[in-house]
Parts: sequence; C-alpha cells; structure tokens
Amino acid sequence: MSLTRSLAYLGRIFFLSALLVSVLHFGSSAQTRSVADFDKGWHFHLGDVKAAENPAMNDDNWRALNLPHDWSIEGKFSKSNPATPEGGALPGGIGWYRKTFTVPVTDKNKKVYIDFDGVYQKSTVWINGHELGFRPNGYISFRYDLTPYLKFGVKNIIAVKVDNSVQPNSRWYSGSGIYRNVWLVTTNPVAIDHWGTYVTTPEVSEQSAKVDLKVKVRNAEGSVIAIKTIIYDQAGKAVAVNNLSDKVPLKDSVIESYQPLMIKKPILWSVDHPYLYKIVTKVLANGKVTDEYTTPFGIRYFNFDADKGFTLNGRHLKILGVCDHHDLGSLGAAINTRALQRQLEILKAMGCNGIRTSHNPPAPELLDLCDKMGFIVMDEAFDCWEWKKSTYDYHLYFKEWHKRDLEDQILRDRNHPSVIIWSIGNEIPQQGDTSALRLAPELAGIVHNLDRTRPITTANDRPDTSNKIIKSGAIDLVGYNYHESDYGKFHDRYPGRKFIATETTSGLETRGHYDMPSDSIRRWPFSRDHQTRAVMNPDNTVSAYDNVSTPWGSTHEETWKVMKKYDFLSGMFIWTGFDYLGEPTPYSWPSRSSYFGIVDLAGFPKDVYYMYQSEWTNKTVLHIFPHWNWERGKTIDVWAYYNHADEVELFLNGKSLGVKKKTGDDLHVMWRLKFEPGTLKAVSRKNGKMVLTREIHTAGKPAKIQLIADRKNIRADGKDLSFITVKILDKDGNVVPDADNLVKFKINGNAFIASVDNGLETDHNPFKANYRNAFGGLALAIVQSKEKAGSITFTATSKGLQGATMILQAK
Ligand code: GAL
Repeated sequence: MSLTRSLAYLGRIFFLSALLVSVLHFGSSAQTRSVADFDKGWHFHLGDVKAAENPAMNDDNWRALNLPHDWSIEGKFSKSNPATPEGGALPGGIGWYRKTFTVPVTDKNKKVYIDFDGVYQKSTVWINGHELGFRPNGYISFRYDLTPYLKFGVKNIIAVKVDNSVQPNSRWYSGSGIYRNVWLVTTNPVAIDHWGTYVTTPEVSEQSAKVDLKVKVRNAEGSVIAIKTIIYDQAGKAVAVNNLSDKVPLKDSVIESYQPLMIKKPILWSVDHPYLYKIVTKVLANGKVTDEYTTPFGIRYFNFDADKGFTLNGRHLKILGVCDHHDLGSLGAAINTRALQRQLEILKAMGCNGIRTSHNPPAPELLDLCDKMGFIVMDEAFDCWEWKKSTYDYHLYFKEWHKRDLEDQILRDRNHPSVIIWSIGNEIPQQGDTSALRLAPELAGIVHNLDRTRPITTANDRPDTSNKIIKSGAIDLVGYNYHESDYGKFHDRYPGRKFIATETTSGLETRGHYDMPSDSIRRWPFSRDHQTRAVMNPDNTVSAYDNVSTPWGSTHEETWKVMKKYDFLSGMFIWTGFDYLGEPTPYSWPSRSSYFGIVDLAGFPKDVYYMYQSEWTNKTVLHIFPHWNWERGKTIDVWAYYNHADEVELFLNGKSLGVKKKTGDDLHVMWRLKFEPGTLKAVSRKNGKMVLTREIHTAGKPAKIQLIADRKNIRADGKDLSFITVKILDKDGNVVPDADNLVKFKINGNAFIASVDNGLETDHNPFKANYRNAFGGLALAIVQSKEKAGSITFTATSKGLQGATMILQAK
C-alpha cells in the first residue's frame, strides 16, 4: 500500500455517447499491460530451510517443478498425519518455493506485480531478500508490488515459504503449497488498479441495458488521463462506447471514474444461455494509451421473493445446486482448469445449475467457467469467525484479517455474472451467541460497501429463532442447512423473509455397493435422537440405494420431495456434488475421503445421479440398478429411475416381473425378487409405446480391459488432461461389478500420468502412480500433456486379462 488513495476526482469533463459503434480508433495499444503465466520454473523444497529467502542461497538441489503444486497429494495416507482422516490423512508440513527470473531493462519504468490466486496456507513472500508480506488465509488471492525491489536485466529471486505444519486447521482436505496459479503483471505507471473495474447492470429491459462501469486508475505520474471504454458482444462487435476525460494532477493517486454505458437489445445471461459481453477499457495518459483492460461480464437480473422464490430474468427458476470443496480428487488441490470443467460438465448433464464454493473463496477459474457454462454461484467466505471449529483454523486470524480477506474476495469476484449470492459464513459457531449481533452486521457492511447488487446469506445449522445472525437483520436470505422437515414452517418462523437452502441432504453412498432391504432408511453413524450408534459395514462401505444419510441430513429423495413442493424454497445446494478428500463420515480411518458425493472421487456417477437427471433435465432417462451378480436365491431390490414415461416393466430372463408406475411423489419404482443369473431388462413406456430399454447382464470372470477417454485430442500446453476410464470386462463385454484387478499403465509420447483413482474411500495407494486396482470394475487414469505436440500411446495391462491400448493426440 505505498500509494495514497485520493477519491476526489478533479475537473472532470465527461462525454457520454451510448451509441452503437463499429469502428473506433483508440491509438496504438502496444506497450500496455502484460499478464504472464508465472507458473513455470520453480524450485521446491519440502521442509523448513533456514534463511531460504536469502538470494545467495543455492537451490540447485531443490526439486524443479511447475505450479500449481500441492505437496500433500504426493504424500502417504496415514492415520497419524496431523491433518487427521477428517483432513484427508495426508501430510502437511512446511514447504519452500523459489524462482529465479529476469525482467528486461526496457521495463525499468514499469510497475511489476506478482499475483497469487491462492497459497495454502500462511505464506510469506520475499523478493531479493526483501519481505513483501504474510498471508494466513489459504484461499484468498493476493498481490504484491515488486517494483521497488526489482533489478532489471539481471536475476531476481522470489522466495515463498508456505506453512501448513500446524494442524488440524481444516475440516476437509486443504492441500499444501502454491496450489493455484501465479501471474506476473507488468503495467505502465498509469494503469487500471488491481481488480480495478466494477460493472453492474442496474436497469435491464428487452430494449436496453444500462451498464455502469467504475474504473480505478492508479496514477503514479500524475499525468492527465482519459478513459475510453467499448463493450463488445460475443461475436466481437462493438455495441457501446464511452469516452471520458479526467484531469488528475495528483501524483501517486488512485482515482475512480464512473462510466455509464447503454446496450440496445441486450442478450441476457442465463443458466441455459450464458451469454457474455466484454468491456475493453483503455487508459490514455497525456494522450497516449497506457493501459488496456478487459472485463468480461453478463447482463441478467434476478430476484428472491419471500413467497415466489427465485426468478432469473423475470422467469421462475429453482436453484438446483451442489456444494463442492476445492479439491480435484486424485489431483489434489492443485488447480487444473480442465479438471474443474469436467466436474462442471458432469454436473450440468445431471441438470445441476448451481455451485456453492464451500466454504471459502474458489479458484478464479471456477467462476470463469461458471460464467461461461451457466451456473449460479453462492460465493462463500468463511467456515468460522472468531470461534474455532478445528484447533488451528482461521479463527486464529479472523480478528486481524477478516476485513481484508472479505474485501479482497468481493473485489475479485463481483464482476462475475454467475455470482448471485454472497455467503459470509457456514455454520458459524457464534450463530447462537450475542457476538453474532455485532459480527454479522459488520461483515455484511464490508460486503455492501463493495457490492449492493447481490443478497447476503449465511448457512445456518441452527436456523431457529434463537439464531443471532438471522436476528441481527444483517442478512438478506435466511439460509437453512438441513432441517428440511422445518421448511414448511418457515414463514411462521420468519414472516416475510426470503429462504434459501444453503446446504441439504448429506446422503451417503459408496458407488456400486448395495445393502438391502433398500426401502429401510439408515441414519449413520447414529440415530437422529443421538440415542443409538448404528451398526455399520465392517468394510467401510455405504449402500448406494439412497437409503443412508447422516442424522442431521436426509436422503436425496426425502430432500428433493420437500424442495420441489414449494415455490418459496428458492433453491438448494446439496452436500455434495463430488466426493472429496477428508471428512469420511460416517466412518473414520481407514476411510480418508467422503461418501457424500452424487459423483465419486474419480468422477464416476453413483446411481442417484440419474434420479436428479430424470427430474432436472429434459433428457429421457431410464436407469436400473443394482448390478446383476449376486448369490442365487438372494432377495434383491431392483430400482428404476425414469421419466417421460408412464410405466416401467421389468423382465428377468424374459419373464415379466410386472409393470410399475410412480404414484404420488415417488421418484423411483422398485421390484423385489429372488436372484437368478441372466439378463435383467427394463422397458419404459408412454401410452403403451416403448420409450427406452435397459439391460443388465450377470457378468462372468474378468477377461479384458476397456479404455474410454473423455477427450482423445488434447492441447499440447502442459496443462490439458485426458480422463481415461478403465473398465474391467468379462469376455462378453459386461463390466464385472466386483472386479478389483490391479491395472498397470504405460505411457509413450509427450504426456505423463498426472494421477490415478478408483473412487474407493479406503484405498491407501498413492494417487501419483502408474498403477491402480479397479474398484467396482472401474478405475481412472488422468493423462496430462507436455508442451510438445504428437501422439501419445497409453497402455493398460493386468495379469490374466487382455490389455488395451489407446492413442491420444496432443495438438
Ligand atoms: C455440514 C457442514 C459441511 C459438512 C457437512 C457434512 O454441517 O456445513 O461442511 O461438514 O455438514 O454432513
């Protein structure tokens, strides 16, 4: 914070021309800002090193790597790791990163910044031995100004110490290290400030949209500046322009300019049609372009109504969301855009339209993807305030850092059209304490100061009238975590207030495991009245019939039945979309990852995924389960999720087991039968006409491997991924549902195996490996490109099985 902020804008001459422009000349834009990927060429050392910030220290023996990097995911699972199984049972510790780099002499008069998207946690950064700062929050993005300490034309050394040694500090897997991207930003002395634009669309109609842009210009020279702004549509056509001149005689000041614009016949952003515009803002100092800055944005309007729920662009829409933690399964916390995009694709295909970034600011790439793919985001700040949930969590830093961290989150995220709700906390332990009457308004005030266009909520696990956060009046949406049996009474409790189910369900499932009878619901690990501990499975599996939930939660069907009933229930965020590392409820060690996901850790959907798909999408669905490999004579429940049909008929080896129809609020149909091997066939029909058929066959012995890549062509950029599903089949091509064969992988060409997985919550083999046992007949290998194009040969072999080979192309 070396420059003083001056908010007064002086001698402002203001020209507005909200007209359609197709050609505009702004002068040359060479030599403006550069935002360089700073991920490559770091040296890493696990463990503390004395004076490793000293530029003279030799780091030649340190490991060379590229960021993003999570060292925990490379470690060994152990019950005794201080993270505990709740935190994923992987090691933490202290790590050092160093990078040597040169800045050209020609940049001598420029400003050079380093931007960290996120470092877990307690990072300290030095440049050439000078300490730039300390940042305890592991999820926040931050910038340092390197300019005063840089040497030009010779070597500079950045050193970063990351301290994740004091644990437990998280209720889920955090990862350790510089696990998000790093950028080197070079600007002219007169340039748009960090997170320096703010765009809102206060008036939107079919005819036009008013676009309000605020621009902060950091002016180290005190030169006379002008700001010119053009809005481009998705096709690259200029649709609005604003020229504005500001005289700024003050040196070292930050001025804020207001630039209203108007777009005619705007195309609106929505979850089904996520249309984006971009604003290009040019700054001219003494008549010359010194900066050019792009702000993508979307035009949409929305409303939460106490009775009618949520509307987007005037149309009723239920928010059908999921909560997710930040890890990417076997890749750990290290951000990878393609891995995030794949998660969102899988969720989109289920009909999901919302993401809650539980319980922390997400990677910026997640919000970019949600903007582009059409998701409504609840952007969450904290999992605790002043009172702790785990011994060494953020409560230790809250007092000193909450204002700064929350401000930075809002400043960074407030231009994203996908962000619709701010959450200032999850299940805050202080919700029942009078201190919340002070803190909730303070935090809401911090948010409102920077953004008034979105409602604020908190996720409350005690949403009754004793809740002091709700009582404080600081929040706009009353957030319920669980308590779905109280939804119906919401307006008696909170007349006139607006509802959001910030967190629901907490159903539990292991993919492919089934406990019968399927129609008896289990609350694990203890009963709802806390009186009885459940007898659970000795192998730490949980049934995938959607018949198990936590005692505080409810099954998927129980929850959705209530949620779909009332319009005022504006939306829900299911705990969780994907399994994540840590919090292995209802078990603990040897389990090390969660059972909550609708999709498992490897990205393979559990059966209940298709219940949502049948309810939430227009896709025609018929999904029957379980698998058909059981002991002869055993009583088996067969379920079908279906839509677009009146009935389903089931056949076993050609013999009808009867027609079933959903009645009332049913979400599935079921047959109970004695197992005999063969073929189970389901036929869905509408008005007597066949809609879909599905067959499951009793599988024989494992015979061969099948490989299926989500993408065979990947970019040769060193980051892109191909997710290869490995299936263990019998000789007739049926997946063998209990196959756990050890599969070995080989790769030739310019790519490597980034990680492997199978979705099993108790598997302690390393994720960074070239082998994996299948689980439930499936495994996953993630192939990452290098920076060279060419073909990649991926081979999978397993003892006694016919192997498989797949050719990928890196382009
Ligand atoms: C909630 C909590 C989540 C997760 C979940 C598991 O109470 O907000 O973070 O712990 O329970 O059911």
